[in-house]
Amino acid sequence: MLPELQKRLSPEVKAGVPLAPRTTFKIGGSAEYFFEAKTADDAVRAALVAKELGLPFTILGGGSNMLVSGGGVKGLVVLMANRDIRVEGTSVVAGAGATPGLLAQKTVAAGLAGLEWAVGLPGTLGGGIRGNAGMWGSEFKETVASVRALRDSEVITLTNADCRFGYRDSRFKHEPGWLILEATLQLQPCPNPEGARALLVKYLEDKKARQPIEFPSAGCMFKNWTPPGEKELADLHRAFDLGKDEKIPQTPLGAIPAGWIIDRLGLKGYKVGHAQMSEKHANFLISDGQAEADDVVALASAVKTKVRNATAGIIQLEEEVEYVGF
Ligand code: EPU
Repeated sequence: MLPELQKRLSPEVKAGVPLAPRTTFKIGGSAEYFFEAKTADDAVRAALVAKELGLPFTILGGGSNMLVSGGGVKGLVVLMANRDIRVEGTSVVAGAGATPGLLAQKTVAAGLAGLEWAVGLPGTLGGGIRGNAGMWGSEFKETVASVRALRDSEVITLTNADCRFGYRDSRFKHEPGWLILEATLQLQPCPNPEGARALLVKYLEDKKARQPIEFPSAGCMFKNWTPPGEKELADLHRAFDLGKDEKIPQTPLGAIPAGWIIDRLGLKGYKVGHAQMSEKHANFLISDGQAEADDVVALASAVKTKVRNATAGIIQLEEEVEYVGF
């Protein structure tokens, strides 16, 4: 198959490429076949060739928010390395492989406001749009004007509404066959460029102070949990054994932070093998550098079970991190 891929796609296609170094978790086996797409056209060709050859096709962005299985990933893995960022007036057009950090720096330098929050966000623009990634109360949904993506064999342009964004969610997560190629983000002129530059520094410092960036992880392991109604909130108040004046924290969207839930149940520091729920932020599942995918899966499922049992089945945590190759 390798010679066929090299002939039809590019001589640069490789076999047996280790994926762990390309993920923020630093965990996982190898890609059966691997290709770095430097342009959107490269990525489209890769998808079409994989289809012709009947090969499974996996897109790799910044390797954050994912756990690669120890057995690796079958078929063709395509790294989105189209990282161009073009500022056009108050818009920015960027390749799916562009990094949020550089997007924030470049747009602030161009006198634009709206992406400062993304300065410490890992991953890529494409992955960030797919999962509607966010930080500090903002998310990609707020600035995406349009997305150019391949579906089946056709490149189409989607509007913000077409993307059906939700909390850490979009249609790209649910419908197979999408390949995000490029996006246009709509920003505003920045009234205070010096303040914006200071904000970039502050966000990076806050991240360092609050999140365990000194250990490999995939970011937050679980999504924050949205209570279905007032009754469940009252039941949880009892399950968590809170005092009369204590309140369950809720995000502006009404979700209960998974970090608070895990912390409150005394699971900070809880370990399976070389994987651990961070002492610094309980929703970060970290590796000591030697964890294997099985340690992570076992720890995540033990935490989910403990949370479910401790809350009489009310809270069912859901992974934000995606399992790849399982
Ligand atoms: N909390 C605890 N114990 C902990 C961690 C948090 O009690 O160990 C409490 C905090 O005291 C606070 C609340 O939980 O009252 C919320 O914590 P934080 O402000 O850290 O925010 P979060 O909801 O845990 C979200 C995103 C992060 C993002 C931060 C900062 C999710 C699942 N997480 O975290 O995103 O970086 O806000 O804006 O939505 C990610 O998606 O991978 C991620 C890390």
